[in-house]
Amino acid sequence: MPATIVTGLQWGDEGKGKVVDHLSEDAVAVARFSGGANAGHTVISAGRRIALHQLPSGLLRPGVLGIIGAACVLDPVSLVREMGSLEDEGFNVGDRLTISGKVHLVHPAARYMEREQERQLGEASVGTTGRGIGPTYVRKYERRGLRLEDAAVPEAFRDRSLGVMEESISGLGLGEEDREALERETEEFMKCTLDLVNRASDVSMVISRILRSGGTVIAEGAQGTLLDPDHGTYPFVTCGSCVSGAACVSLGLGPVMIDEVVGVMKAYNTRVGNGPFPTELNDETGERIREKGNEYGATTGRPRRCGWFDGVLASYSARLNGCSWTVLTLLDVLSGFPELMVCKKYELDPGIDLTLFETGARLEYHVPVFETLPGWEEDITGETSWDVLPENARNYVMFLEKLTGVSVRAISTGPAREDLIWRT
Ligand code: GDP
Ligand code: IMO
Ligand code: MG
Repeated sequence: MPATIVTGLQWGDEGKGKVVDHLSEDAVAVARFSGGANAGHTVISAGRRIALHQLPSGLLRPGVLGIIGAACVLDPVSLVREMGSLEDEGFNVGDRLTISGKVHLVHPAARYMEREQERQLGEASVGTTGRGIGPTYVRKYERRGLRLEDAAVPEAFRDRSLGVMEESISGLGLGEEDREALERETEEFMKCTLDLVNRASDVSMVISRILRSGGTVIAEGAQGTLLDPDHGTYPFVTCGSCVSGAACVSLGLGPVMIDEVVGVMKAYNTRVGNGPFPTELNDETGERIREKGNEYGATTGRPRRCGWFDGVLASYSARLNGCSWTVLTLLDVLSGFPELMVCKKYELDPGIDLTLFETGARLEYHVPVFETLPGWEEDITGETSWDVLPENARNYVMFLEKLTGVSVRAISTGPAREDLIWRT
């Protein structure tokens, strides 16, 4: 379909990169609409495993354009590096990347600020990726941010960049070593921004032209619904909106221009960083899922927390995003477990009136109620046909489908592009 939004239904890392890569075969453009270098989207292309952080996943397909939307936050230094390493892998970005001039820039000082904030929070820290995401969004909403288009006037941009640096050095009371590092990083920040400024463009215009001429655009989400600052597990969230509605805001598209919303969800749940996770498994089963699923962060390398599939939260996310259909990923990881548990409802902690809260809020007071389903022994890695899946695997998929109320149209059975079952 011409305009499709791909969004994560859990706490990120659902396999959005793989799904976007798969769907972008015939697309004209792939447009990232949320987050920044906190994301890590893994794509296996030409036998190589590539983790994309800020670049849209479609760029791995020759001829597909990449777009970065206005509501993303852009770290120019890491973007320039990412483009360099992609070129080293043999993928030429060239002039295929367009960035909204309105995108806010992650000044290196933002990382120092975030480090200090997390330190002050101590045990209550968010467990951020340390990429300066939060402080950059805060500055944006304080109406003091630096945008890519500001670099069109280099002298003024330089003055403002150095101003942010000075303000942070004194505000944070940085020591000699940090101060020198930040000065070097600010120089690099200014240089890389100036290298990128000629990619600035009116993204809304670019996309509407493609759609008007009948081309397909995939809007690639980052993070996941449960990390959304409004609808996620606040305050353990990221700072940029990441539900499907955010695609319209970031890319400058009216909602009626969207044809489909595809929700991506894992066959179990994971989370990196802190915050409530009702179905978390702090035992050998959780460890086994982590090892089988290679559940280590694509950005920070941190081990991901693992747990059973949470049907209440998945159904909540499917509703919030208005999913047309879903892709269920990493089903192969569950082969070999004699029994699988799925959270189908919550019991509320007695004594707390949770009727005052919306679904998805105050999860720390929720006690999951599980349904136990029989597992399957067979290795299903790389399967491409629904009919050859073991009966228990098919029943598992249909159980999740019923819980979420949205049809699972595709099932991913391995990390590679072709490891996918399309249900007819
Ligand atoms: P994203 O952030 O949503 O793009 O997801 P990540 O790339 O951070 O994490 C998903 C991980 O699962 C990556 O290592 C993928 O290569 C891998 N992956 C994606 N789909 C499948 C699948 O169906 N099976 C297996 N075993 N791995 C998968
Ligand atoms: P992709 O796009 C998983 C998490 C962090 C932390 C919280 C806030 O790969 O799915 P931040 O650095 O954004 O301020 O951190 O959000 N987080 C992610 N977790 N996948 C991501 O992106 C994430 N991006 C941020 O771990 O808990
Ligand atoms: Mg990821």
